[in-house]
Amino acid sequence: MSQQVRGVIARAKGAPVEMATIVVPDPGPGEAVVTIQACGVCHTDLHYREGGINDDFPFLLGHEAAGVVESVGEGVTDVAPGDFVVLNWRAVCGNCRACLRGKPWYCFATHNATQKMTLEDGTVLSPALGIGAFLEKTLVAAGQCTKVDPSARAAVVGLLGCGVMAGIGAAINTGGVGRGDSVAVIGCGGVGDGAIAGAALAGATTIIAVDTDDRKLAWARNFGATHTVNARNADVVESIRDLTGGNGADVVIEAVGRPETYKQGFYARDLAGTLVLVGVPTPEMRIELPLLDVFGRGGALKASWYGDCLPTRDFPMLTEMYLQGRLDLDAFVSEEIRLDQVEEAFDKMHTGGVLRSVVVF
Ligand SMILES: NC(=O)c1ccc[n+]([C@@H]2O[C@H](COP(=O)([O-])OP(=O)(O)OC[C@H]3O[C@@H](n4cnc5c(N)ncnc54)[C@H](O)[C@@H]3O)[C@@H](O)[C@H]2O)c1
Ligand SMILES: [Zn+2]
Ligand SMILES: [Zn+2]
Repeated sequence: MSQQVRGVIARAKGAPVEMATIVVPDPGPGEAVVTIQACGVCHTDLHYREGGINDDFPFLLGHEAAGVVESVGEGVTDVAPGDFVVLNWRAVCGNCRACLRGKPWYCFATHNATQKMTLEDGTVLSPALGIGAFLEKTLVAAGQCTKVDPSARAAVVGLLGCGVMAGIGAAINTGGVGRGDSVAVIGCGGVGDGAIAGAALAGATTIIAVDTDDRKLAWARNFGATHTVNARNADVVESIRDLTGGNGADVVIEAVGRPETYKQGFYARDLAGTLVLVGVPTPEMRIELPLLDVFGRGGALKASWYGDCLPTRDFPMLTEMYLQGRLDLDAFVSEEIRLDQVEEAFDKMHTGGVLRSVVVF
């Protein structure tokens, strides 16, 4: 028996999101239905609704969520009804080339539910990042459910499902930040502040936060930034060089997703430094750089998908650190909102004032 629940969809490119009744099928083999308790509003949801990811409208938005498994389909053994889980958008398949070579964080196999959620008239919905969690209950592949300590609050640990994990992982896993490193983070939203928190956990001694919004810079200090630069009134590259003894940072993390900030990151690195692109560009964006500078400055130019995380390893570990008081995930939650306030949360992304709005059910 399928169920009907309330959810948030993006019907057409650029149009405001709307509430709709969504039909959620019973879980098929290898699938699970999860009762969502909380779901953060990530910039990638806005990318979807603006047509910046692909044109498979209508989208079922929301992908940064935690909840409780309601039911599981045939053959599911890793999770059971009642388990508290954070949803992940890259369930490791175990069989692809990346998995078999021992690098499961590069798993390319799409491992989502094969059944579809629909509108009442049968219109098939495209769940954002294979999740779709601005929804009272959602259908996912069982591998997308990662069990974590149930004493953690859903509104907080749900953020590990995307932005905060992407940021922490961009610093620790992709950027390889180590003790004593200097790190600059361009863009201090949920993802960038995750990168700052990750750099602090890894032992970086200089952590430079760069943003165009002074409120964001003030918050960045709470996550471990040692210095801040407002890109509106300072030269970003020069400022980062000045703050690192004239050298540039060992690791620069770009968490905006724009050519101009990528270029700043490219030149703000020390020689042989690492640049990590975790911000997501849109299809029309281009970057032009002198090839001689790419050669002459050396180092590594990397992109970070989901912080190169391994949900089964990283979600429970970071939840534990949170519960031990070593990782302030509470500070990412600026406000708790209702399901019908997602559009307002998108507006606040532009006007500032929030790090993460989290829909609480
Ligand atoms: N790679 C991944 O796996 C992954 C995962 C989640 C999100 N993302 C992407 O990361 C990016 C950031 O996401 P978010 O949720 O933190 O967004 P956000 O909107 O909360 O934060 C973006 C921040 O960048 C700042 N900013 C904008 N223009 C700037 C500029 N020119 N210089 C400096 N700062 C500037 C804004 O003031 C804001 O604080 C998005 O592109 C998002 O799609 C990537
Ligand atoms: Zn795989
Ligand atoms: Zn996201």
